[in-house]
Parts: sequence; C-alpha cells; structure tokens
Amino acid sequence: MAMKGDAYLKCIDPNCGCDYDIDSTNVQCEKGHLLDVKYKCRPSEKLKEIFYQRRNSQGNIFNESGVWRFRELLNFCQIDTENIEECSKYLVSLDGAEGRQSKPYQMTKAAEFAGLESNNMWLQPEGYNPSGSFKDNGMATAVTHAKMVNAKKIVCASTGNTSASAGMFAANEGINCDVYIPAGQIAPGKLSQAYQFGAQIVEVDGNFDDALKQSLDDAHNHDGYTVNSVNPFRIEGQKTIPFRALEYLNWEVPDWIVYPGGALGNTSSCGKALMELYEWGWIKKIPRIAVINSEGASTLSDLYNGKFEDEELRWNKGNPNTELISRYYDYLDKEGLRPKTKATAIQIGRPANILKGLRALEFTNGVATTVSDSEMLDGMSVVGLNGFDCEMASGASVVGIKKLISEEIIKKDDIVVGILTGRQKDAMIPVDYHSNPANKFAKPPKN
Ligand code: F0G
Repeated sequence: MAMKGDAYLKCIDPNCGCDYDIDSTNVQCEKGHLLDVKYKCRPSEKLKEIFYQRRNSQGNIFNESGVWRFRELLNFCQIDTENIEECSKYLVSLDGAEGRQSKPYQMTKAAEFAGLESNNMWLQPEGYNPSGSFKDNGMATAVTHAKMVNAKKIVCASTGNTSASAGMFAANEGINCDVYIPAGQIAPGKLSQAYQFGAQIVEVDGNFDDALKQSLDDAHNHDGYTVNSVNPFRIEGQKTIPFRALEYLNWEVPDWIVYPGGALGNTSSCGKALMELYEWGWIKKIPRIAVINSEGASTLSDLYNGKFEDEELRWNKGNPNTELISRYYDYLDKEGLRPKTKATAIQIGRPANILKGLRALEFTNGVATTVSDSEMLDGMSVVGLNGFDCEMASGASVVGIKKLISEEIIKKDDIVVGILTGRQKDAMIPVDYHSNPANKFAKPPKN
C-alpha cells in the first residue's frame, strides 16, 4: 500500500545536488555534504484539520503519537493507508508515546523572569517524552528508516540523551544498540538509562566530538546504522516539535522559536519544517530562530557573529565559507581549547549539522548567542517554579530569551516559543543549586 518514488534523498549543497534512493543509508553525499529527505508531492493544507482530529486518537497509536500524527509531512515510508496494522509494519513507535505529551505552555514565572508578558511566551517541554528528551521525536523516524533497510544494529555517539532514546527504541524493536559516550562527561541519569535499556556502552577517552567520530567510523566499518542527527531521518521526526507548537497556536506563527544549540539537529529540523511549510503555503510568515549556545561551547555563536577572523559565517545561498569553519577548528585544536560547560548535553565543539543550521538561520533571519552556566541554572530553576521539570541545557532557552530581550533583539510584544529539550537527569544539580543561597531562585534547606 505504498506510493513509491515520491521520497528521496538530496545533497544539501546546491552546487552538488546529487540524489539518492530513499533506502540509502549514507548520511553524506560522495563529497561529504549532509543530505535532506525530499518529497515530490505538496501536502494539502486540509491536513491541518485531520491532524487536529487525530488528537482524539480513537485507539490508534499513530494518531496518539505526537510524531506520527503528522505522518503525511514525514512520509518517507510512502504509506498511503490509514490501516493501523499496515502502518505498524513500517512505522516505529513507543506505543504512541513519543511527542504525545509535548505542547507549548505558558509559564508565568519564567515569562516574568525573561521580561515578557506571560501571554506572549510559550515553553514547550520535550523532556516529557518517554526517554526524557526531545530525541524520541527523531528516534522514532530514524529507527523507522533503520527497520526499512533491515538494520540489525543502531549506533550513536551521545552526550546522554541520544543514547537513552536509542537504547529505548532498540530494546522495543529487538535490535542491538551501541552507544559511544565521552567517559565521565555525561549525566548519571542518562548513562543509567542506556544501561537499563540494554545498550552496549562504548566509553571514549575524549569529548563528544571524538566519540562521534569514532562511532561514525565504527558504524561504517561494521555495518551499524547511525542514529545521530547527521542522519537525515532524525531531522524528519524532529520537525514535529515546531509542528506541534504551531498547531497549538492555531497555526498563528510566533515571532521567535528558541532552542539550545549543540550539534544543531534541532535548529536544522526547525529550519527544514519552516522551509517546507512556507513553500507549501501553510504559513505566510516565517518565525525567526534563535540558537543559544553555552559560553563554553560556542562554535556557532562565535562563527555566526564574526568573533573569529572578523567574518560573519553565513549559509550564503549554499556557498558557505567552509574554510573558515576548518580554520576555526584548527585554531581550537592548536590552542587546546576543548568545549567546557556544566550543561554537558550541549558540550559540543564541532556541531555536525552546522551547515544545515546556517541554512536554517539564513531562511529565518535567525540569531545565535551565548549564555553562562549560572544563567542556564537560573533558567532551569525558574521553569521548576512553574511546576515543570527541565535540565540545565534546556534552561538556555529561557535565559537566551531573557538576554535577547535585554538586547532588544526580541521585542517586548513579540510572541516567543522556547523549547525545553530535556528533563533533569542529574539529580544533584538542583540540590546543589538550592543549597547555595547566592543563587537567584535558591530555597536553601532549613534545620
Ligand atoms: N538539549 C538537550 C537536553 C540535549 O540533549 C541536546 C543534545 C541539545 C539540547 C542540543 O540539541 O544537538 O539538536 O543542537 N544532545 C545530544 C545527545 C548531542 O547526544 O544527547 P542539538
């Protein structure tokens, strides 16, 4: 029951532009450029009503799923049926739970802290996904593709959340999973989840960037299927993060969508989602993307804002100055500068999706900036005071909004959606934060 030939892979570099079949497992073209999943058909805007109706799932897990509810917009399996058994042969789901609880909320205290009217600021917790982070959105689609190509083993490098998500999906599908982690640099709750779900941990003596390189090499040499966000099918699932935000705002487009920035998979997927919706005429206005790096892992912000060699790195319609990026990495290596932040989720020096990230920023007239570790802790903590949980890296969205408002880049009457990417998995971070009365939102224990 599939419509063949509608979906394919295409190199992102317009000067290269080679196409591949949808069942290719390459994450790059021959020249090393990233790939996009492309669709020949143009989805009808009438689907907006169907997506809305599916929120009453009527026992169909693919309607319950916040990812597969939008399946026509990620239809790389080319399924053309509503039959649940037929869908189950192709689509991978954690019984409909991925993305199910995610939607934007107004959080009064966080808005007040950031400096916006509470009606103007929305925060979308992705930490309430089954494995505790936004990764489940993209893992559902990546593992669907892994199943489509009969992969026996999925492989990833991770600062923690990807490994927890990959492990959970692999256990559900009965396939093997190897996760490469920077030894000693991931939150204990994330590591423990990867073990709990039976993943094979591979400890790498180095940081995330080293772990990613090793995992890509090993996957290539030993027939593993890579599920990091360099995999274009991860990006497809993560498009549903902005889809859900837009749907809950009745497709009234906000002025800003704000993400913490690590490997830039989220930035890339938000950009792709918006490019597609705009091209199809589903949205008339384009929200601006703001990417918030940690001060200690600020590659995108440094390059985008011209802090290296005084050149502002841009996508430049598909002709980015990639040599500038190489020289920046050489400079980091030469100076022994390693990414360093207590927000280990985003402790990344070489964002693998940087070119797709730049494309997203160019399309949306986006911005990139940095926040400090102590600011992220405040952002995380004020989210808690609204009764929501998130991890330190996610706090970057809140304080990033605050910083951009103080710089008058975000205007006081702008509508802003911030993504809270993950749930707390390092139990001692809030304990330590609240034990120190010097912290802004601390409530120290009494005795
Ligand atoms: N927030 C959290 C909680 C994350 O775990 C990550 C990435 C990011 C933000 C950054 O997102 O890569 O799309 O820019 N974590 C990855 C991992 C790298 O391995 O779990 P990005």
